[in-house]
Amino acid sequence: DDLESLAGAIKRAETAVAFTGAGISAPSGVPTFRGDDGVWDRFDEGQFTYGRFRSDPEGFWEDRIELQRVMFDGEYEPNAGHEALADLGQTGHLEAILTQNTDGLHWDAADSRHGGDDPESELATEHDHDGTEILELHGNARRVRCVDCGTRSDGDPVFERAAEGEVPPQCDCGGVFKPDVVLFGEQLPGAVIQRARSLARESDVFLAVGSSLVVEPAASLPRLAASSGATVAVVNLESTPCDSIADVVCQADVTDVLPRLFDLVES
Ligand code: OAD
Repeated sequence: DDLESLAGAIKRAETAVAFTGAGISAPSGVPTFRGDDGVWDRFDEGQFTYGRFRSDPEGFWEDRIELQRVMFDGEYEPNAGHEALADLGQTGHLEAILTQNTDGLHWDAADSRHGGDDPESELATEHDHDGTEILELHGNARRVRCVDCGTRSDGDPVFERAAEGEVPPQCDCGGVFKPDVVLFGEQLPGAVIQRARSLARESDVFLAVGSSLVVEPAASLPRLAASSGATVAVVNLESTPCDSIADVVCQADVTDVLPRLFDLVES
């Protein structure tokens, strides 16, 4: 069937790349953005623009604390979908995981499956686990970054201070902290987007997982991969705008499809 042919393509591929969105973390309990009860049902995107962060950092941070509560309240664990991708990486079948998610769960999966905690992992912006690159296109919401001196630090103590009324929270240097994520109206770092594009172009298999594929660069990366000759697969509970250009479409849960895919690749 389709999954078998996809597994075959992954086995033959020199470069297979996974591209993930909120749907891969949904089974871990992290809310998605779109759809019923999605984050953008409860909040307005306008509350979290870069322009607002600059002009009204106090209001921005008050709202951000609420968003942080809704999105990351609780100790989320990676699920079988994250783990199957980590396993594909570990066995040399996956060159890179590009993610739009800011929850850090791909790193946790790689750490927990293979080789224990990397002491640097909390603050590193790019990861390499057993040769698998993990590229977080939208940053990492567990960290903050000072807009003046550029220092990155663990977000938890800073979010706590903000929740207790220090808004906007400040770095020792006196600069304002910003969540270390890409805000609306803010460009993705040039090097990150370039790397994502070149991986999409290089890939022989491009696996788009749990993303609605409606915002950039999610909307164009699968097309770029397809036009460069990759086998494109879409795994999503619902149909997406990229289904028409995909070679394989699996309308199913990531925690079902990805472990089965891994087993087929290994068999
Ligand atoms: P979305 O919320 O737009 O899409 C999540 C997708 O996951 C939907 O298409 C669901 O059908 C699918 N899904 C949910 N649960 C699933 C499951 N168990 N198995 C398979 N599929 C499942 O999230 P993203 O596409 O990640 O940007 O959104 C992209 C960006 O838009 C986000 O990174 C965020 C948002 O605005 C920023 O914050 C900059």
